[in-house]
Amino acid sequence: MQAWKDYQSKNKDRFLDELLDLLRIPSVSADSKYKEDVKHCAEAVMEYMIKAGCDKAEVCPTAGHPIVYGEKIIDPKLPTILVYGHYDVQPADPLNLWTSGPFEPVIKDGKIYARGACDDKGQMFMHIKALEVMAKTNTLPCNVKIMIEGEEEVGSSNLGIFLENNKEKLKADIVLVSDTSMISMEHPSIESGLRGLAYMEVEVTGPNRDLHSGVYGGAVANPATILCQMIASMHDENNHITIPGFYDKVETMSDADRKALNTAPFDLDEYKKDLGIKEVWGEKGYTTLERTGIRPTLEVNGIWGGYTGEGAKTVLPGKASAKISMRLVPNQNSDEISELFANHFRKIAPDTVTVKVTAHHGGEAVVTPTDSPAYKAAAKAIQTTFGKDPIPTRGGGSIPIVALFEKTLGLKTVLLGFGLDNDNIHSPNEKYDVVNYYKGIETIPYFHKFFTESFGK
Ligand code: BES
Ligand code: MN
Ligand code: MN
Repeated sequence: MQAWKDYQSKNKDRFLDELLDLLRIPSVSADSKYKEDVKHCAEAVMEYMIKAGCDKAEVCPTAGHPIVYGEKIIDPKLPTILVYGHYDVQPADPLNLWTSGPFEPVIKDGKIYARGACDDKGQMFMHIKALEVMAKTNTLPCNVKIMIEGEEEVGSSNLGIFLENNKEKLKADIVLVSDTSMISMEHPSIESGLRGLAYMEVEVTGPNRDLHSGVYGGAVANPATILCQMIASMHDENNHITIPGFYDKVETMSDADRKALNTAPFDLDEYKKDLGIKEVWGEKGYTTLERTGIRPTLEVNGIWGGYTGEGAKTVLPGKASAKISMRLVPNQNSDEISELFANHFRKIAPDTVTVKVTAHHGGEAVVTPTDSPAYKAAAKAIQTTFGKDPIPTRGGGSIPIVALFEKTLGLKTVLLGFGLDNDNIHSPNEKYDVVNYYKGIETIPYFHKFFTESFGK
């Protein structure tokens, strides 16, 4: 559409500058030190919603960080798209591995470097800009509700409550989210599923205090060694997870669907090269795409205990701990899996130690249909702006609230993501390509157009 093109090209530089301003706000949800910054970021997002043409926009307080909600209702008879995204970001550490400040965005080789550039400020902001494009050119084809939360990276628990309490306000026909990735600009793709998550913390305690490792070592079990043995035992020689019952409910994919999944372009040598590894790893009998898309996994996210400072200190630690998460697939339930994990972990602990297991946040897996009018509208939007049909893929990440959109609001979601797997989300030097940002702003209005045209058909 010419009017969209013209408006976007006239305002291109401002669209980028505004995103950079947003990226300067350190809205780290996990760290209470940034509480005021998170609030400040919510207010900035609200201002941009108003500027984009929303009839109303508000910062909704919660028991945690605020939710920003805006809407533009042009005709109650027309369909309504509920846009979801998050303005909170992951902590930036380790800081020394960043080549520029995580909250001092810079553009290098056409890429924006900053924490949140891709996940999810850059992506959610495309929706605010796309709304501006449509509203300011008087071409908005449907109603838009837009909800940007500040606690996605810490489990979205207050958003779950917000959904329960605001069912009428959030009434819509589809949820649209840009918080996932595509294969590449040459091979645009749409994720048709997300994995669930069960996140645990374990603590193994041995002697009642740290001990001299010469005086006591060899005679008293070392909790760090025991913890490593326990963790190591949770994968067998085929890299299958050994927790009894773990796979009981796992949905098995048909051979035809597996075949289709593996037709997505994927270069194993490139993958290894990009990561600097000699070999990949994973569950026997599955390809890399299957291991990250349709199979559940168990990962150690962090492990500590004893002396980790400079130089050498001889010590037998009294305690050792780890944060362990499991990615789940359809039909697995995060509470059930957390319980299976906790029981198993207690059971395999030798008498030389005591263990404590705590469950953190979790979430359920989702599969989004690829034959729905909404998916087809997204595919047609991609086809229009990329000149290619998107490839359906399965994403490895999790967005726990998506399962609740269905459960609480009865709404399906379309995952129209423009990130790339190597955008370093959650890692140092997170980036987002400027072209992806602009391409997203260009593509989103077409989703609105095609979804509205297909509505009720
Ligand atoms: N945007 C990601 C999820 C994602 C990334 C989905 C890439 C698909 C592809 C999201 O912000 C995220 O990081 N989610 C967390 C879970 C959350 C409960 C902390 C995750 O996946 O680890
Ligand atoms: Mn995200
Ligand atoms: Mn994230």
